[in-house]
Amino acid sequence: MILESRLEELKECLQDQVDLDREKLIVARASGRANIIGEHTDYNQGLVLPIAVDRDVLVAGVVQEGDQVTLHSLDFQDQVSFGLKNIVYDPAHPWANYAKGVVQVFKQKGCTLSGFVAAIQGNIPIGAGMSSSAALEVAVATFLEEAFGLRIDPREVALWCVEAENNFVGVNCGIMDQFASKLGKKDQALFIDCRDHSYEYVPFHLEGHKVLLVDSKLGRDLASTEYNIRRAECEEALNLLKSQLPEVASLREMSLVQLQRMEKKLGEKLAKRVRHVLSENQRVLKAKEALKKGDLGHLGRLLVQSHLSLRGDFEVSCPELDFLVESGLKMEGVLGARMMGGGFGGCTINLVREEAIERIMDELGQGYGRRFGLVPEFYVCEASQGASILKPSK
Ligand code: GLA
Repeated sequence: MILESRLEELKECLQDQVDLDREKLIVARASGRANIIGEHTDYNQGLVLPIAVDRDVLVAGVVQEGDQVTLHSLDFQDQVSFGLKNIVYDPAHPWANYAKGVVQVFKQKGCTLSGFVAAIQGNIPIGAGMSSSAALEVAVATFLEEAFGLRIDPREVALWCVEAENNFVGVNCGIMDQFASKLGKKDQALFIDCRDHSYEYVPFHLEGHKVLLVDSKLGRDLASTEYNIRRAECEEALNLLKSQLPEVASLREMSLVQLQRMEKKLGEKLAKRVRHVLSENQRVLKAKEALKKGDLGHLGRLLVQSHLSLRGDFEVSCPELDFLVESGLKMEGVLGARMMGGGFGGCTINLVREEAIERIMDELGQGYGRRFGLVPEFYVCEASQGASILKPSK
């Protein structure tokens, strides 16, 4: 659906609720993300290189007197209302908890808010690993900033959204998704140092190539369980390492040589986890250079190495993702491919020649269907503007 029709639907929804003064209407949007490279590094204070994609969540609303907040979800055909003094997690309306969590954190940080009515709609596929929940959080946060005249460092806003997801929703994610959603820029990748939260834009010009996401259509509970297990393993490894190397504050600070010396102490499994984090950080740096030089062949090879490391050392891939990556790599026009995100489902990310896209989608779709009886979904993505305020025509 084009933006104008989406905005029209949001306005209609609001009109059913309030006497809508279109002059006072505020529309915030925030993007989903694709991660080019740097997986399972964000919560180890490492390096990541995502882009914001051209799919987003819109929050349209108006400020109201009093302290009552009403939210409508067009996608879930659902509505929730709550008072600002009494924001509680409600398992009956899962989507709303992301928005409530953000409002709660803004309040805790001392922002002065009042009630509001908002309608929400998105076009980021849910459960595909393209960060629709981070986009919802960031869109709500961006709405609050505009509605209540708040001036906050965008990194701080992204961190508040992470806080909402960690503490209110109870999902233990890192910072990458919210940063990409808030700070992404058109035709730029976002290089983030997750230790000090500094960032740098890296020109993302693919010259005749595209980012193709292939959704495995696997949404498994395993993903969140294993994600938490990997985080705990990284922490356990860090604690063991600290006992001998007190100067090491995070896995980021280790070198591969130090790791070799510590392998016995860590044991095989934890050593593999640490090796992934260290090698992935190196690949992010190399990918940044490859992009700056326009060396897409090199970038493609780094994606493949990342996949092998995620599969072998971090052990977060699965037969379906391996199949999509391996069969993609056999095809003419695919420069690189890897699983993207937490693992055990979601999408693979492929760097492909533009004129080969149709054929690649066709062949991958057929092969995957034959092997697993599943129909993958395809998304061709552009590096796009992150969160913004829209000025809809009246
Ligand atoms: C999920 C989390 C991110 C990041 C990735 C793995 O998408 O939300 O913070 O940890 O997994 O790289």
